[in-house]
Amino acid sequence: MILPKPDLEDIEIQLLLQGLYLYYGYDFRNYAQASLKRRILSFIHSQGLKNISALQEKLLHDRTSLEQFLTNITVNVTSMFRDPSFYLCFRSKVIPLLKTYPFIRIWHAGCSTGEEVYSMAILLQEENLYHRCRIYATDTNEKVLQTAKSGIFPLKLMQEYTQMYLKAGGKQSFSEYYTAAYDHAIFRTTLKENVIFAQHNLATDSSFNEFNVIICRNVLIYFNQILQKQVHTLFHNSLCNFGILGLGKQESLRFTPYEQYYEEIAKGEKLYRRLN
Ligand SMILES: C[S@@+](CC[C@H](N)C(=O)[O-])C[C@H]1O[C@@H](n2cnc3c(N)ncnc32)[C@H](O)[C@@H]1O
Repeated sequence: MILPKPDLEDIEIQLLLQGLYLYYGYDFRNYAQASLKRRILSFIHSQGLKNISALQEKLLHDRTSLEQFLTNITVNVTSMFRDPSFYLCFRSKVIPLLKTYPFIRIWHAGCSTGEEVYSMAILLQEENLYHRCRIYATDTNEKVLQTAKSGIFPLKLMQEYTQMYLKAGGKQSFSEYYTAAYDHAIFRTTLKENVIFAQHNLATDSSFNEFNVIICRNVLIYFNQILQKQVHTLFHNSLCNFGILGLGKQESLRFTPYEQYYEEIAKGEKLYRRLN
């Protein structure tokens, strides 16, 4: 019997990922293969490297290249009030529940450059809840967290963000939340008063608190089923009874072993409530 020839690039990717994990502790082994491969190949091309084995040699011996690789390999696209209907729904369905709590802990996992964290802080301020909240904003990528901490975003995006804010049920004039300086928008420091920005890797780190709300949008799509299940276990163990889980548009709890432990509180918005 002739066995099908394995794809050499796929073998090289396995070796590369194993090497990165063993040497640095970065674990990409359970990321969705097709998109990971696309990004690795595009990085190789941008670096003028011959193949994935050459990349492995470079990354294991050159820390600067590794940092560059890490920045390129994770997709950091985000925006303020991304999917405005999610925030609109959060306002109408989740805020009334949160108002019954004396103190609220929120975890934004995979927050990227922080736009969704500032969006949530604005929403909570408008609902007069922010002073009772602590937001933990985490990402595996240290570089994007630096931007998140700064709260400074390109001014040219503010017109689009204003539209999103209004669609998300915004109650003020959006420009009240930032000061324009040259080509940047510097967001009010009060918005990050109750925010803790920290590095956390969903693939390797464990739970660090118990939360009333966990928001993790557009992150699980980059993971394979094994890692998705592992992360859902982490979230389930980190959410208090009746806590809220918010996922991205293309993500859901369907077909996961956790479906039975949550009720959908808003159809189509990927907002779930943990059952007792
Ligand atoms: C597409 S962005 C989503 C940002 C934001 N949640 C949103 O929906 O707009 C995906 C983020 O997940 C982060 N990420 C990827 N792998 C991760 C991991 N293992 N642990 C934590 N964050 C991770 C990336 O660094 C990136 O910032």
